[in-house]
Amino acid sequence: MSKRPTRLIAALDTADRKQAARWVSALHETVDAFKLGLEFTYACGLDAVRDVSHGQRLFLDLKLHDIPNTVASGLRSLLSTLSPELMTIHALGGPEMIARSREALEQAHSSSTRPKLLAVTVLTSMNEQSLKAVGIDLPPLEEVVRLGKMAIQSGADGLVCSAHEIQALRDTLGEEPVLVVPGIRPKGSSSDDQQRIMTPHEAAQAGADWIVVGRPITKAADPALAARAIKAELQG
Ligand code: C5P
Repeated sequence: MSKRPTRLIAALDTADRKQAARWVSALHETVDAFKLGLEFTYACGLDAVRDVSHGQRLFLDLKLHDIPNTVASGLRSLLSTLSPELMTIHALGGPEMIARSREALEQAHSSSTRPKLLAVTVLTSMNEQSLKAVGIDLPPLEEVVRLGKMAIQSGADGLVCSAHEIQALRDTLGEEPVLVVPGIRPKGSSSDDQQRIMTPHEAAQAGADWIVVGRPITKAADPALAARAIKAELQG
């Protein structure tokens, strides 16, 4: 089990720049980082990502997947205007795409400020049947571990995974990879469309380095209060 502290990322899933800025000002003293993804970036642009996350630790979740040269060039373009702490690519892009992504990150930043490269293995929306439909016959957990191992060996610093995958990944990959875990629900909150959830405390116990929480914070009557309760649960 990991002894590292588990930190909290608030997922700002909105296409509204002012709403995102309001959440940042309400939450910046409580959460450890903010996640901005496809919805915000496509609606508001990279300048808005930079402005809204100014002075904050940023998880830029754009899940890149293309030929190695295009992904590496895309990352270089992103890093010419942004300094995220965490960024995502798809492990299914393969070893060369991952290695070239890592190189692009190393070229853009010194080792102390280099963004951490996270690979997404199997999307949590996929099940055994949908994996079969894309030609993958392994059960989802085995495929997660297989892809996760390949991604780390190819240069990823860590993985985005479900809390239910942490144990199998730690057993195979050890303590070093950074594990970032969405699908988190504090006790008593709505599961929304998440299927296999864990509480913040359970995910911390399982060895998550970061948890990603969206709607339980952003849809709360008092988002800062909801975030403080989650932080307290992580520390307790
Ligand atoms: O609102 P909720 O807490 O479900 O938000 C979780 C965030 O994590 C969303 O931004 C979602 O896109 C993201 N995510 C996820 N499951 C994954 C990968 C990312 O829920 N497997």
